[in-house]
Amino acid sequence: MACPVLLTERLRLREWRDVDVDPFAAMNADPLVMQYFPALYSYERTSRFVELIRKRWSELGYSLWAVERLDRCHFIGYVGLWPATFPASFTPAVEVGWRLAADQWGQGFATEGGKAALHYAFDSLGFEEIVSFTSASNVRSRRVMERLGMVRDVSGDFDHPDVPEGHPTRPHVLYRTHAGR
Ligand SMILES: CC(C)(COP(=O)(O)OP(=O)(O)OC[C@H]1O[C@@H](n2cnc3c(N)ncnc32)[C@H](O)[C@@H]1OP(=O)(O)O)[C@@H](O)C(=O)NCCC(=O)NCCS
Repeated sequence: MACPVLLTERLRLREWRDVDVDPFAAMNADPLVMQYFPALYSYERTSRFVELIRKRWSELGYSLWAVERLDRCHFIGYVGLWPATFPASFTPAVEVGWRLAADQWGQGFATEGGKAALHYAFDSLGFEEIVSFTSASNVRSRRVMERLGMVRDVSGDFDHPDVPEGHPTRPHVLYRTHAGR
């Protein structure tokens, strides 16, 4: 399925364009944006990621949206839905997630986009439950989850298998939300 456009008060969630790759690569090479990830992305890794995002849209009918501000019309990051398939007590599941350029933080854009993605997940895709997870120390991302009304499931705490053992960002926390909440 093609990526639908979602409009919020201040944002357009839309399909990925080739011109998004440069600003996305800059974000993914920013140590502040990538503080809670095991490594920065090379330009090639970002390009491959964009290809995977597009493939997910056509294969699954959901994926990550490219986000732009309505007042500036340029790419500021992503918000969206992603399949969580790695081994954990709560998988397989569908995750809501976000990554914005650091100069766009502190304005409510992740929460605004996340809300639209959750509505789409429940109302258009018919999912019963969406999860979100992040490194336990990623307080900014946890606050987005809490602002979206997601509830922490302490029993779901896990060590992310894609993060090397001993890495400080490996311990993760799990949040859940359900249709009709
Ligand atoms: C996680 C991330 C998206 C959170 O971004 P954020 O800007 O802090 O979150 P929001 O967009 O919800 O903005 C909320 C903040 O905007 C403020 N704000 C300002 N104007 C606002 C408005 N009009 N509406 C709502 N909030 C507003 C809120 O008070 C809040 O500030 P606070 O954090 O000081 O309490 C961002 O830090 C990021 O991209 N990090 C790197 C990638 C990452 O770690 N992703 C998650 C991996 S799981």
